[in-house]
Amino acid sequence: MSQDLNKKSAAEAALAFVEAGMVIGVGTGSTVNYFIDALIKLKEIIDGAVASSEATAKRLRQQQIPLLDLNDTGDLPLYVDGADETTKDLCLIKGGGGALTREKILAAASKEFVCIADQTKLVDVLGAFPLPVEVIPMAKSYVARQLAVLGGRPIERKGLTTDNGNLILDVHDLKITDPKAAEESIDHLAGVVSNGIFARRPADILLLGTDEGVKEF
Ligand code: 5RP
Repeated sequence: MSQDLNKKSAAEAALAFVEAGMVIGVGTGSTVNYFIDALIKLKEIIDGAVASSEATAKRLRQQQIPLLDLNDTGDLPLYVDGADETTKDLCLIKGGGGALTREKILAAASKEFVCIADQTKLVDVLGAFPLPVEVIPMAKSYVARQLAVLGGRPIERKGLTTDNGNLILDVHDLKITDPKAAEESIDHLAGVVSNGIFARRPADILLLGTDEGVKEF
């Protein structure tokens, strides 16, 4: 089966976690776009959605799903988002779409985080996917030097300004054997807004679209 079909089936399986009256946190990316398209069926019973990016907000608006502000909703019952890599213990690398900071905020503010991904995203050790790090523009060179000291090879993502007005450094050549420690040490660098390791707040449930159907971890 194709990767796209596996993304779609994982996304559709996440509908089972949606309940009447919920405000749902919605991530960013192609797998999440399948989720938004499926969510149309339930749009009359939910109270609305909080978007993790301008791109997701646009798609939710197009589907006439009411958009709410996290500052008005309080904590959310459910957050649904994709991943660039996931381990079996549900630590993730995210940020391939550049939305990692808002995604991390929504994950932190949600009671349940359901990750939807296709089978190619499952790894034993995080880091083959270059780790996205959102950086304040004036700190770019300083942070890049510090990331090199940590053993990474940072490359600026050209032509991308995040929704928060910052830059992304994609860090190659990291083998992230202790995701929590790596997340913490990169976050502590001055000038880093956030990094794409989701280990301190991992997903709670992984719906993995595979050629044999959707597997739940
Ligand atoms: C965006 C993300 C996405 O969840 C991640 O890049 C996966 O994307 P896709 O569903 O298109 O494979 O973290 O910042």
